[in-house]
Amino acid sequence: MFDIHTKIQAHIAGLEPYSSARDEYKGDAKIWLDANELPEDSGYNRYPNKDLYGLKAKISNQYRLSEDQFIIGNGSDEILDLIIRLFCKPERDNIITMPPSYSMYEVLAKIQNVHTIKVPLDEDFEINTSECLNAITGHTKLIMVCSPNNPTGKVASKNAIKILLQQDAIVVIDEAYIQFSDAVSWISELEKYPNLIVTQTLSKAYGLAGLRLGLCFASSKIIHYLNIIKAPYNVNVASAKAAMRLMKGDAEIELLKKQIKEQRTRLIAFLKGCEWAVQVYPSEANFVLVRCNNSKDIKQFLASRGIIVRDRSSQYRCDNCIRITIGSTEEMDQLIITLKTYQA
Ligand SMILES: Cc1ncc(COP(=O)(O)O)c(C=O)c1O
Repeated sequence: MFDIHTKIQAHIAGLEPYSSARDEYKGDAKIWLDANELPEDSGYNRYPNKDLYGLKAKISNQYRLSEDQFIIGNGSDEILDLIIRLFCKPERDNIITMPPSYSMYEVLAKIQNVHTIKVPLDEDFEINTSECLNAITGHTKLIMVCSPNNPTGKVASKNAIKILLQQDAIVVIDEAYIQFSDAVSWISELEKYPNLIVTQTLSKAYGLAGLRLGLCFASSKIIHYLNIIKAPYNVNVASAKAAMRLMKGDAEIELLKKQIKEQRTRLIAFLKGCEWAVQVYPSEANFVLVRCNNSKDIKQFLASRGIIVRDRSSQYRCDNCIRITIGSTEEMDQLIITLKTYQA
C-alpha cells in the first residue's frame, strides 16, 4: 500500500507551517489591522485574500474538484519546484526524466542538488517503459512525464503511464498542453492512484502566460504538504483578479482547440511539402516539431524576416529540429509565405 508519508522529506512531515494573517482570519471585517498593510485602497494594498479565494472557487467549479485537491502556483514552474522540494532529499534522492522533454525538470532538480536519471524516449518518442523500470532505485522519488510532450508534441501512452503508476514512486504528469489534445486528462484518475500528481497551467490554452498561474492536482494529503511549503502569498492579487475575469470556460477552450488544430494541420501539411523538411512530427500541442536539413539556417532566415522559432537541436534525438508555435491565422499565413521563399 502506497504511503505518502514515507515519500515526503522527513523534516517536512513535522514542519509547523508559517501562519499568515490571512490564514488566521478569513472572514469579513470593517477594519483590517492584522497584516501591517497600508489602509489607502490602491486596489493592491492588501495581501491576497478574497480574490484568491474567488479564483480557487472558480477553478474548483471548472474542474469539478474540491479545493483540497489542488493548489495554484506562480506558474507551473513554481509547482514543479515545490514538488521536487517536497519529496527529494538533496544529494540522496533522484528523479527520472525522459528526454527530449521539458528541460526545466532537470534544472529544478539541480538547484536542489537532486540527481536526475535520464531515460530517453525511444525513436518514436514513446516512453521506454522497461528501461524506466530498470532505472528506478531505492531513492527514486519522482518520475516526470510530460504529456503532450514538449518539444515532441506527443501524448504519452496510457499503458506506459499505468505501469509507472504501479511503482513505488510518485508519477508527475505535466499536462501543460493537454487542452490542445484529444487525450483525457489524468486528473480523472487521481482517486485511483495516490502516487499521481498532475500539473497544468493557465499559460498555454488559457492564454494567460503573463499572469504566472499554474495548477497542481493531487490527493488532499499531497496538496496539504504542498500548501505547507509554498510561500504564504505565492499568487498575487493582480493575477488572481485578472484570471477571474479572463479564464476561459470549457466552451471557449473547445473553440480554441478547434482553431489551433486547424492551423496545426495546415502547417504540418505545408511543412511536409518542403524539401528542406526531413521529418515533420505529428503534434497534439500548440506547436510542431520539424527536423530540417539545417535548423540553424532556417532559424536565421526566419529571424532576419522578423519571425522567431526555437531551435531544439540541443535536445536528445532532436538534431536539426526546430519547434514552431501555432500562432494566429495571419501569423501562419506570414510564416508560410516567408518559408516559400526559403532556398536551402
Ligand atoms: C511542458 C511545460 N511545463 C511547464 C511549463 C511552464 O509553464 P508555466 O508558464 O505555467 O510556468 C512549460 C512552459 O513552456 C512547459 O512547456
